[in-house]
Amino acid sequence: MYSLRDNKQLWVGLVVFSAGILIYLAQTPFGYRSAQYRRTPCGNLSRSITETDMLGALRADGFSPRLLSRAVRRSVDADTSHVVPRVVHYVLYDVPKGVRFEFQHYLSFRSAGHFLKPQYIFLHGNVVPKTDWWNRTIGEVDNIYHVYRKKRTHINGKRVSFVQHLADVTRLDVTIDYGGIYLDTDMLILKSLDPLRVHALTLGVSGPKEISNAIIIAQKNALFLRLWKENYKNYKPAIWGHNSVTFGRKLFLLFPHLVHVEKEHLLRPTWKEVHLLYSLRGEFYNWSQSYSVHVSGEGKYRVPRTVEQLKGYNNTLGEVMRYIYFGSRKLLPVKGAPFTPK
Ligand SMILES: *[C@@H]1O[C@H](CO)[C@@H](O)[C@H](O)[C@H]1NC(C)=O
Ligand SMILES: *[C@@H]1O[C@H](CO)[C@@H](O)[C@H](O)[C@H]1NC(C)=O
Ligand SMILES: *[C@@H]1O[C@H](CO)[C@@H](O)[C@H](O)[C@H]1NC(C)=O
Ligand SMILES: *[C@@H]1O[C@H](CO)[C@@H](O)[C@H](O)[C@H]1NC(C)=O
Repeated sequence: MYSLRDNKQLWVGLVVFSAGILIYLAQTPFGYRSAQYRRTPCGNLSRSITETDMLGALRADGFSPRLLSRAVRRSVDADTSHVVPRVVHYVLYDVPKGVRFEFQHYLSFRSAGHFLKPQYIFLHGNVVPKTDWWNRTIGEVDNIYHVYRKKRTHINGKRVSFVQHLADVTRLDVTIDYGGIYLDTDMLILKSLDPLRVHALTLGVSGPKEISNAIIIAQKNALFLRLWKENYKNYKPAIWGHNSVTFGRKLFLLFPHLVHVEKEHLLRPTWKEVHLLYSLRGEFYNWSQSYSVHVSGEGKYRVPRTVEQLKGYNNTLGEVMRYIYFGSRKLLPVKGAPFTPK
């Protein structure tokens, strides 16, 4: 028989033990370490940096290198309500066909630079694009830095089947390690994200059963992201969205309080509503309240490659791209037949 006293000790023990676990979870970065950084040539060498340089740059501004992320955060906004640093992350790994960097990717960087006014735009990965549009990007958008990351072949001992999986993990690594705004290279920004930078984590919805990772607005070390990354210990290389969007949704159902979800204004029209993005039935999506738009359906529909093509592109995506490029959504006169999505 237990006495009351024994029971009490048991309970106290349990509480202390659970508290210990919780503190451990809250403080320890999960899983493997982030990839090593090293110097690498880039479009503009003077803009290519390493993690050491990053520390150096921050140290030069009077910040302690040991508190890198806090420094990044503090160096951004003096007020404490904006917990997400004003830093943008992109991830790019090479692919056998060669890295594409087209008009819409240039517009992604350009819109991020214009509307987010980031202190840094980091391009993480093992490759720098080589196209004209990339040259224009580094010529016109300030504060772009390439941060070399080795293209790993395995995730937790399992061979990577899709390069996207590696990019999925890297985006979690960088947002956990530094905080900031992760963007897919085809996310187009339409206004400041400051109203969302007050949340520890903001994600968008890309379908009824999907929490997307195409845009991640995160404070450093967000618990939700660490749990998401932890799930890669159970990496399933063969299933495309298993560890990314599908698991994100599961995690959200378990821990809805750990993430602010924007249903309408980050990713609509979603990939399931591409007819609205390309206005296939003459219907335009009203994006006047949107923070951003994701260029999906590109494999199936034509996206302008040139400024000339953009001028007469008569659909929602055309409006958005013109708004970023010309500052107005209005159609512009073209010679000959206008460019169409099909
Ligand atoms: C590279 O960037 C630096 C710093 O922004 C700039 O001064 C320099 O002109 C650039 N060089 C080239 C080749 O674009
Ligand atoms: C981009 O710029 C680099 C450096 O100025 C140059 O060597 C390269 O040819 C340019 N690429 C294109 C596609 O114009
Ligand atoms: C653009 O598309 C809309 C909807 O299909 C149509 O009503 C409008 O006439 C088109 N504008 C031009 C200039 O073709
Ligand atoms: C789009 O929505 C805004 C407010 O949400 C509204 O003021 C505007 O009139 C709408 N535009 C169109 C073309 O329906």
